[in-house]
Amino acid sequence: MKIAVLASGRGSNFRAIQEHIQSEKLDCKISVLICDKPSTGALDIARRFQISTEVISPGEFPTMEKFGSALMNVLGKYRIDFIFLAGYLRKIPINVITRFSNRIFNIHPALLPSFGGKGMYGKRVHEAVFQAGVKVSGVTIHLVNSEYDAGPIVLQKCVSIEECTSPDEIAAKVLTLEHKYYPQMVNLLLAQEIAVNGKRVVLRERKDDQNK
Ligand code: GRF
Repeated sequence: MKIAVLASGRGSNFRAIQEHIQSEKLDCKISVLICDKPSTGALDIARRFQISTEVISPGEFPTMEKFGSALMNVLGKYRIDFIFLAGYLRKIPINVITRFSNRIFNIHPALLPSFGGKGMYGKRVHEAVFQAGVKVSGVTIHLVNSEYDAGPIVLQKCVSIEECTSPDEIAAKVLTLEHKYYPQMVNLLLAQEIAVNGKRVVLRERKDDQNK
């Protein structure tokens, strides 16, 4: 199983996934890290792990479709099976979503469908959660569709934030959950197939390589 990780920032989830694959000796690899700009923490991490990197900047393409074609060329070159967005701030072009139907995942640092959507990323999410006075927050791992943070939910985990006195404290608690559960998506994909019924994700045992 070959994974591409797409990131725009510091890359701590990318690192957590890579470390999990290595420590558990999982039968898969991150074949490429794709960033939308040339200097990100994620790129530095990839170099440290000797993972191939590609930078594809959407601004260099006249249309989303052409940006999508450039992404697909790279994904094809590395024979990618699954895509993990890890702090990737760009919209995924529709031609990529169609080609990789139910094979693109995103992690969001709150419990969707609350506190998500366009412009809700990074610190803004935790500030909104703090202001709302909710008592739990958490992580949502979901399939990517054409709307921000709106794809079918695969996994959610929550944490009490009753004692938190700032958005930063919430962010730290949630990040710990992210680093635990996003890497576990890899185990899930190795063992299960994902189907979608409306907005509900249905998991089934993978049978495909029994006779190989
Ligand atoms: C994480 O909080 C993730 O949930 C969100 O963007 C942040 C990325 O952090 N989508 P990092 O770059 O993985 O450290």
